[in-house]
Amino acid sequence: MQENILDILKEKEQFHIIEHLESLSEKEAAKLTEQIEAIDWTFLDYLKESPKKSSVIEPIPALQIKDIDNMSETYKTIGSKAIKDGKLCLLLLAGGQGTRLGHDKPKGAYNMGITKDLYIFELLIEHTMDVVKMTDTWIHMYIMTSDINYHDTISFFKEHNYFGYNPDFLHFFVQELNPATDFDGRLLLSSRDSLALSPNGNGGWFSSLKRCGLLDTILSSDMEWINVFSVDNVLQRIADPIFLGATIHSKKMCGSKVVYKASAEEKVGAICKENGKPHIIEYYELSKDMMYQTNEDGSLAYGYGVILNYLFPIHRLKETLDIKMPLHVVKKAVPYINSTGELITPTEPNAYKFETLALDLIHEMDDCLVYEVSREKEFAPVKNRVGVDSVDTARELLSKNGYTL
Ligand code: UTP
Repeated sequence: MQENILDILKEKEQFHIIEHLESLSEKEAAKLTEQIEAIDWTFLDYLKESPKKSSVIEPIPALQIKDIDNMSETYKTIGSKAIKDGKLCLLLLAGGQGTRLGHDKPKGAYNMGITKDLYIFELLIEHTMDVVKMTDTWIHMYIMTSDINYHDTISFFKEHNYFGYNPDFLHFFVQELNPATDFDGRLLLSSRDSLALSPNGNGGWFSSLKRCGLLDTILSSDMEWINVFSVDNVLQRIADPIFLGATIHSKKMCGSKVVYKASAEEKVGAICKENGKPHIIEYYELSKDMMYQTNEDGSLAYGYGVILNYLFPIHRLKETLDIKMPLHVVKKAVPYINSTGELITPTEPNAYKFETLALDLIHEMDDCLVYEVSREKEFAPVKNRVGVDSVDTARELLSKNGYTL
């Protein structure tokens, strides 16, 4: 075993891996060693208690639906022109593992139909096609997958003839992986010669775009805005010209679609300001006072929940490339092999994953247009199979919006 790898593993208290390496053939050990060498160990720092930084949290005003409706024609004209001029591209975040849904294929390949096929990817492409047809302009869509679902995602699109989208405008790329650990910070193995590696979260898409060379093409084009969205909101409007127009018109640096909370206690991240910068505060970080605090008109001061649909200016994102995105430690169910080599597939969280989050990019912007959309018309997340934010609730909302399932 290489001396330096041994030293690192000792320093990081990964004694079980040292022991395991000794039991491997040369070929197996070489593969595992290569993975270990690629690790950026700073992720382990996130398991340590870090001192709370002091911050001033304040509400941020939102552009409400009624204000948007009054100006919609103006915004639409501005947004449509920008699209026609090739200023907008799209970024679909599809690298997640969808563990809560429990589907063994990419989440986008989940069939929302009941009497016919209606896949999540199909719905997202349909929504985009509405704008393509309206503006008579193909819009480049970058689709982030992980190593784990890359081939399945591409084959699925091919098999379905890209759901009618122009394949020259669809670009698939892969995000990086981070190791997962048990609750004591010990690396997990997914097989004898491989660590349990998981996608590194949805915040690393911009640096992944750079790493795979696609950013250079974007930077040498006319594109100025990037609309980032998640795979699992089946009702969202993508490349929404009104949202784009409103963001450009506002002269704010970026835009975030939000929905007004269903109740003060709803468990969603609320948009606000932290030390003067746009910020997303998690529901569990809100004090009771803040949770129920109201504006003059009686609405909740921290009442706008983010739905993971953002507009970012590409020039500003470029400046954030040198910033190391913080990692968030999340508890997830991660399959692993135990000390006797048996593969364990837990149903409850057993591991920490280390993820960057798209919402941290918002904090790197000077200001943000908080853009309210109707929950019933634009927010149907598919997170779980049943219950809250599930296939069932999303199907109900799709039906209410006129879809035949
Ligand atoms: P979620 O936070 O819902 O995570 O992702 P998930 O992995 O899809 O699902 P669970 O938590 O395991 O059930 C929100 C969005 O971010 C993308 C997802 O594909 C989804 O569009 N995402 C998440 C990535 O692209 N990469 C990641 O590493 C994680």
